[in-house]
Amino acid sequence: MLGLLRPLLAACWYLQLPGAQGWMPGYSNGFHYQDISNGNGKGEIYFNGIRLHVESPQLSVSATRGSSVTLPCHFHYEPELAAPRRTRVKWSWVPANPTGAGPVPSEAFARETEVMVAMGNRHRSYGGFRGRVRLRRSAPGDMSLVINELQLNDTGRYRCEVIDGLEDESVTVDLELRGVVFPYYSQKGRYLFNFFGAQQACRDQEATLATFEQLFSAWEDGLDWCNAGWLADGTVQYPITAPRDGCGGVDLAPGLRSYGQRHRLLYRYDAFCFSASVKGTVYFLKHQTKLNFTEAVQACADDGSQIAKVGQMYAAWRLMGLDRCDAGWLSDGSVRYPVTKARANCGPPEPGVRSFGFPPPYLRFGVYCYR
Ligand SMILES: *[C@@H]1O[C@H](CO)[C@@H](O)[C@H](O)[C@H]1NC(C)=O
Ligand SMILES: *[C@@H]1O[C@H](CO)[C@@H](O)[C@H](O)[C@H]1NC(C)=O
Repeated sequence: MLGLLRPLLAACWYLQLPGAQGWMPGYSNGFHYQDISNGNGKGEIYFNGIRLHVESPQLSVSATRGSSVTLPCHFHYEPELAAPRRTRVKWSWVPANPTGAGPVPSEAFARETEVMVAMGNRHRSYGGFRGRVRLRRSAPGDMSLVINELQLNDTGRYRCEVIDGLEDESVTVDLELRGVVFPYYSQKGRYLFNFFGAQQACRDQEATLATFEQLFSAWEDGLDWCNAGWLADGTVQYPITAPRDGCGGVDLAPGLRSYGQRHRLLYRYDAFCFSASVKGTVYFLKHQTKLNFTEAVQACADDGSQIAKVGQMYAAWRLMGLDRCDAGWLSDGSVRYPVTKARANCGPPEPGVRSFGFPPPYLRFGVYCYR
């Protein structure tokens, strides 16, 4: 229990705001604790026959990037208390996209970091959450966390911890963003990214390295890709739905093929990026003639927008149904087009973003812009 108390004390010291006549370490509220047993693992503790319940009706929530999301968390006492008790709430999280440096498996070290602590009407938020989070408080005991302006890297497991005197109970809620996973490789060729290069390459395309869970659900949706790529946890994997030679072999069941953790500096692979909805729109530019790459960049600028990034193209295809059978330049020098309804003369019989790879920049195509 000391292990639990220490971070709480630290959290509460932060709450000694000017004018707070609040709780101090050692403060006694006159409540006499007896017969305290440890939590039973179901979000309940017992003291004096009174039970603290902490619950969430949703253990996982999915949302779109840029939107607001509510992670539900409620507490109540059983039987109900005659007088309100002083409770504190702490929200913390373990990011799904660890940004740990070095060749260390970051998953093993993924630590909970604080999002917000609240006591009475006072609260404090931390790091990238500062100014973006609040408690919903729509009813007594409602400690649901509202996060505004969701970012790609907000995904992960959030813990709602209700602290009452000497004990605390918690529930966790997983937050995932609706989005799309896409394989990505360098303009210079295959298998050229170390972990950090892969991280940067995804970022440059308005995306982030995919998590294992994101790649797994992409595989469930049918993603089959026979080139290994980095994931956010520093492992290297690839998704196979149709087992075949050269991709783990015909004897291996469909699934994610994993090389496990790889040294983040020394080894080079492709990347699996994750892109979520974008605020603007991606469109195929109406233009009299076809364009080389330089002209394509300029044509979007002349139209008051920017040449689209690969992550924006995938998000527009998957989440907004962008469908266009015309090849166009993208900002990384690749040429692609998005097809949601497969048809004759528009590539393979499945929907997808078709790619021509990275043609020489003097060749002429259309262009996709983003505004
Ligand atoms: C999360 O993304 C935002 C916006 O892209 C960025 O400013 C912030 O530094 C990122 N946070 C982490 C922990 O990577
Ligand atoms: C594209 O064409 C313009 C002329 O319209 C030329 O100046 C430019 O060098 C060409 N760019 C490439 C990459 O070939």
